[in-house]
Order: sequence, then C-alpha cells, then structure tokens
Amino acid sequence: MKSSLRPVQTASGFYFALQSAIMSSTSKQPIIRPATTEDAASIASIGRETFNLSFGHSMSGEDMQAYLDLTYTPEAIALEIGDTRNTFLVACQPEVIGFVQLKKGTTEACLPLDTPVTELHRIYMHHESNGRGVGRLLMEAAHTIAKNEHYSGIWLGVWEENVKAQKFYEKLGYERIGHHDFVIGNEIQRDWVLLKIF
Ligand SMILES: CC(C)(COP(=O)(O)OP(=O)(O)OC[C@H]1O[C@@H](n2cnc3c(N)ncnc32)[C@H](O)[C@@H]1OP(=O)(O)O)[C@@H](O)C(=O)NCCC(=O)NCCS
Repeated sequence: MKSSLRPVQTASGFYFALQSAIMSSTSKQPIIRPATTEDAASIASIGRETFNLSFGHSMSGEDMQAYLDLTYTPEAIALEIGDTRNTFLVACQPEVIGFVQLKKGTTEACLPLDTPVTELHRIYMHHESNGRGVGRLLMEAAHTIAKNEHYSGIWLGVWEENVKAQKFYEKLGYERIGHHDFVIGNEIQRDWVLLKIF
C-alpha cells in the first residue's frame, strides 16, 4: 500500500493526516497526532501489554512486573508527556493503537560527534495492529519532527534478539553503529545502537 503523511496545522499544534490512494473510503484511516496527558492511560496500556508480549520471555516475572509498575503507569507516562525533552505521537483509529517517543538530550559513545542527532526512545504498536503500515507512519512522522527541529538524524537502541524490530528499522534506513547495555532488574541485555542520517 502506498500512502503519505500530510502535516496539518491547527490552532493547538499539528497532526499528520494519512493520504492513501488505496484505502477505501470506508476504511478507518489512522491519524498521527501529538499526545496529550489524556492519552497517558492508553499509552501506558499499550506499552505494558506490548513490552510484556515482546520481552516477557527474556526476564523473570518479578523483574518484568517491577519494570512495568515503574514505567508503564498512567501517572509515569503523564509525567513523561509533560517533560519538554520528550515528544510523544500517537496513532489513532480513533482509539490509540500505537505511539512513538522522541527524547532530547541523550547520547551514546558511538554516535558521531559532529552531527546533531536525537533519540527515538520507544515505538510500540498494539499487537492487533501490527503489519498494517502504521509503525512506518509513526516513524515517518518522527523523522519529520526531528528534521523540523534541525536534527540531522535519529538514533535508537534495539535489543539484539528483537529481530522483528531490527528488520523494521532496516526497512526505514537505520544502520547498526554500536551497542550498549540495557539493565532491567537483575538482567543485563545488549541493545544494538542504530542510526539513520536524513
Ligand atoms: C516494530 C513495530 C513498531 C513495527 O510496527 P508495524 O506497524 O507492525 O510495522 P509496519 O507494518 O509499519 O512495517 C513497516 C515496514 O517494516 C517491515 N516489517 C515490519 N515488521 C517486520 C518483520 N517482522 N520482518 C520483516 N519486515 C518487517 C514491513 O514489511 C514494512 O515494510 P514495507 O513498508 O516496505 O512494506 C511493531 O511490530 C511493534 O510494536 N513491535 C513490538 C514492540 C517493539 O519491538 N518495538 C521496538 C522496540 S526497539
């Protein structure tokens, strides 16, 4: 399916309207828009469920529960949405089916020193909405925002065993440039660091 995102300016900001030649007029077309604190519960719920489904096999139940209770509560996500270092976008149909988070001010030793890049901190789609092109739309919207903020590229970390996400990022032009440790409870996992220069 070929589709494109059109940024739409509104009084309160902007959203991305999906234009698709192929989606029929009866399909529900996803809208990508900035998240507000009212989306915190939906984001927390998708994050919690998707993290558990994707990584539950890689750590103890206790470590998983502690991580979810710390990270994916509506209160914790609302605080993150309110932090100006973060930009959250949600894909809505009209309910929230996925989100992406950009985060300013983070760095990695393997990143180029002479090129301003920002981090794509999280992208999670609800599992029932995988494989329909919406993850790509969220990534393209994040790229547009980063470019508008005068970044030359985006970096991210992906678990070395998350082959599905690695293939997804590869499709979007990301390349492996190094690795870092991701500590969760008693586990130390290795994440690949990927970079895309626009
Ligand atoms: C990774 C994730 C965000 C992808 O979202 P999605 O909506 O399913 O992806 P899309 O349908 O937009 O796919 C975009 C492209 O990636 C490709 N792709 C996606 N998953 C793929 C896979 N498992 N293997 C190969 N290619 C894949 C698609 O074929 C598509 O290519 P195309 O545009 O050339 O046709 C989603 O699967 C997800 O939330 N996974 C669980 C959480 C996770 O791992 N997040 C990343 C943590 S670092």
